[in-house]
This record gives sequence, C-alpha cells and structure tokens, in this order.
Amino acid sequence: MRTADLKAVIAIEAVSFIDPWSPQLLAEELSEELAWKAVAEDEDGQVLGYLFGRMYPDAWHLMDFAVAPGARRRGVGRRLLSAFVEAADRAGRDVLLEVRAGNLPALALYHELGFSHVGLRRRYYPDTGEDALVLVRETGGGGGGCGSDPTPGGLLLAIESSCDDSAVAVLDGCGRVHASVVHSQDAVHERYGGVVPEVASRAHVERMSAVVDEALRQAGCTMDELEAVAVTVGPGLIGALLVGVQTAKAIAWSRRLPLHPVNHLHGHLAAVWLADAGAPFPMVTLVASGGHTMLVRVEDRSTFRLLGQTLDDAAGEAFDKGARLLGLGYPGGKELDVLAETGDPRTFSFPIGLKRSARPNFSFSGVKTALYYLLREMTAEERTLRAADVAASYREAIVKALVDKSVRCAIGEGVRTLAVAGGVAANSLLRRRLREQGEAAGLHVVVPPFQYCTDNAAMIGSAALAGPALAYPDYLDLDAAASLPLGQWTPASRV
Ligand code: KG4
Ligand code: ZN
Repeated sequence: MRTADLKAVIAIEAVSFIDPWSPQLLAEELSEELAWKAVAEDEDGQVLGYLFGRMYPDAWHLMDFAVAPGARRRGVGRRLLSAFVEAADRAGRDVLLEVRAGNLPALALYHELGFSHVGLRRRYYPDTGEDALVLVRETGGGGGGCGSDPTPGGLLLAIESSCDDSAVAVLDGCGRVHASVVHSQDAVHERYGGVVPEVASRAHVERMSAVVDEALRQAGCTMDELEAVAVTVGPGLIGALLVGVQTAKAIAWSRRLPLHPVNHLHGHLAAVWLADAGAPFPMVTLVASGGHTMLVRVEDRSTFRLLGQTLDDAAGEAFDKGARLLGLGYPGGKELDVLAETGDPRTFSFPIGLKRSARPNFSFSGVKTALYYLLREMTAEERTLRAADVAASYREAIVKALVDKSVRCAIGEGVRTLAVAGGVAANSLLRRRLREQGEAAGLHVVVPPFQYCTDNAAMIGSAALAGPALAYPDYLDLDAAASLPLGQWTPASRV
C-alpha cells in the first residue's frame, strides 16, 4: 500500500462499515511499523480492496479489511486474507480477529481459511449492540476451522418455496446443516398430473409456519438464537416464492436480522459444497432438475457462468413425461429410475439429442416423441411385458446425453472438478456414470447425497453464506421474481 492509495482506501472504508475508521487513523496505520498493509488492485491499478494487520511478536491480528462494493464476490477478499495468513504461517504465528456475529459471509470465508471460534465479546459494537466473535487461526491451520466447534458464528434460517416443496433449514456460519426439513406437495398435485401454481401457493401458506417450527425443533434452537435469514427469491412460481419471501421478511424484521436473498439456481450449485467443502475450483456443474438443465462454470462459491443449457425440455421433464407415458406415478422420475434398474438398456434405441454438436447444449424433445411412437405401436400386453426394458433404454439415452456432454465440457473448460446438482442428480444411473466417466477423465467428481439434490433449504442456506445480505430493514420492499438469471441474486438491481 502506498500513500497514493489512501484516498481510495478511505472511500472503500466509508461505504463498507457503519462505524468506519477515520482518515487520520488509516493514515497512521499506513505509517505503523508493525503493520501489514496490503491492497488488491485491478489491471489499471484501481484499488479493489485492502487489508490492515498487526504483526505482533506473539500473534498477528487482523485489524481492518474491506473490498469495494463493485468488486465483491470475485475472490478479492479471499486473496488478500490468504496472503496475510500464509505470511503468518511462514512466520510461525497464529492470527486473531474479531467479527460481527451476524456477518455470515465473512464468517464463512474465515472458517474456510481455517479460523475457529474461541470467544465472544458481548455487545462489543456500540453502533448496533451486536456481539463480536473472536476467531483464531492456528499456525498452519490450513482449512476447516469448523472441526470441533459445535456452532461457530450465529445460526442462519433458510427458506425455500419456489415450486412444490415447502423447505426450511438451519445452518451455522461454517455451512454445517443443523436441520433440513422438506414438506413435499407431491400427494397434493398427483391428481392433476402436474404442479398447479395456485394450489402450490395455498399449500405453502398452510404449511410454512409448521415447517419453520419443525426445523427449529430439529436444530434444537429458538428464533432468538438466529443471526440471519435466507430465502429463495426466484426463479420459480411467483405465488409460491412470495410465501417464502414474506415469511422470511417477517422473521428477519421482527428480530432486526439481515436477510440474504438467494437465486434458486445458486442454491442447487451450492449443494455441491454441502457435500464436499474442499472440492477444488474451478468446477463445471451440471444442474438438472424439473425446470432446468444447464452446464455452469463455477469459479468460486459466488462466481458462476452459464456455458450451455437445454434448447427445449428439461431432463426432469423428459423423465416425468416418460413416466407418464409408461403409466408410472407422479412426478415419475424416481419411479422410472427404479423400473429401469430391472430392464435391459440395449433393447431399444432412442435418439440422443444434439449428440454430434460440440456445444454444451441439450435437447430432450426427440427422445420423448420417440417413446410416444414406440408405445403407440405396442399392444397393451407388450407395453406391460416390455415396460422395464423400455424404461431402461429411455433412461440410457437421457443419461448418456447428460454425462457425455458434461464430461466433454469439463475437459474443454480445463477445470479440476465435475459436479452434479438438481433433482435429476438423484438418478442412480446418472450418479454411477458421472463418477465413472468423470474419474476416468482425471476429474474430481462430486455427487451430493439425495436429500441435497432435490429441492431443499439447506442448499439455499449454503448459497446464502457466499452471497450478499440486505441489512435490517432494507429488505422490506424485496420482491420475488418468476425468472431470475444465473448470477443475479435478487430481482432488484441493488445487490
Ligand atoms: O430439483 P427438483 O427437486 O425440483 C426442481 O427444481 O425442478 O427436481 C425435480 C425433478 C423431477 O422432474 C423429478 O422427477 C426428478 O427431479 N427426479 C428424478 C429422480 N428423482 C427426482 N429424475 C430421474 N431419476 C430420479 N431418481
Ligand atoms: Zn430446483
């Protein structure tokens, strides 16, 4: 850091904290001999962030650390902090810091870099009366400061209601799940053969409070122990989303807590680090659900880029429509999967959409039409006798399209990890094949457990920890959005 950087540092400090350091204090720190003073700059030399530390003989202290609002979620903070802790490691010193108990994104980063919770300073911050958590990173404490600490940081309540599942979870600042409750509406929509939006919204209204209570009960905590609330704001059914958003606002507002708005797609992507917190970045993740089928390049926990997607039906839709044609239950993807396990996939040949295209896109309308014509040509008896072989062959074509494209895309992108998320990631053949083909290509493969593949709130909480938060009471006019593109956290342009 040079004297010339001071002006930019003062400006970032002023917009980052309720109670910022004064320009004079910052100038003094710059000339302090024991101080670590680092800035992160872009290619044009513009200051993006800075870190002040003190290198005391017994331990190093993190004093002040901020990233410019326009440069957040790009790994700038992680780079500044990593440089500091790595230097402390080389000097053989522990690193100490204090952080606001409600600052969950910061806590998530600290825990990721090996800090653990050693103490609490009650009402430490005079502006809000918030508690400070004292964190320590022991020399060489590379990763996972979460090990022995039962509840590092405060607890986060996460709510998901974008489609037909009412889900609530409780996580700590380390991203550990203390409770995850999902109330499925499948039985409600079964008789209509699909999700009826108005029926879904009403069912969410009826159940949401009970699901919140059950999640708190399972986590063994009360509302008063919560430090933040997270909620899916889109994409999804607007009426269904609004139930979650209003519930989250009410809980957060009544306790003066920050609120994290979460994109449902970011939630599916974050299921990957619930399953494997150390999976190396960058990664390519296949998100395959009832509404989406996309390949995403994931640079870090908050930087995503869409590489390709389905041009027509989603993979889950193809499974559900196939199940319906075969007379299996609703939604049907799972039933078709179970039946397919008993059949021979070589019996029938189904088209594999966009097989020859090098682009990471998918198409599932052809396979569905082929199934329709195949079944139409069969007698009722044949349809019963050959059902397992038909299901196995149909599943084979869908899974082959998904796995071949995903592995090819990951290799082409030069990433280290290949992951899968979304309801279709519960498919048993997809799970096996992705592991086999991905590992054969030298990739680290992450296939999350079933409960984090289908819609759930734990993944929403996991995404929230790496995303933005709206401070109390700035979220009262927060809205939901039926469509919300990947990379955008809220419908408003504020965040
Ligand atoms: O992610 P999700 O729970 O909801 C959406 O956001 O859409 O995904 C639901 C989809 C449904 O289409 C369902 O049939 C499918 O995931 N699915 C499966 C399996 N389990 C659920 N598809 C194939 N095989 C399965 N085992
Ligand atoms: Zn979903």
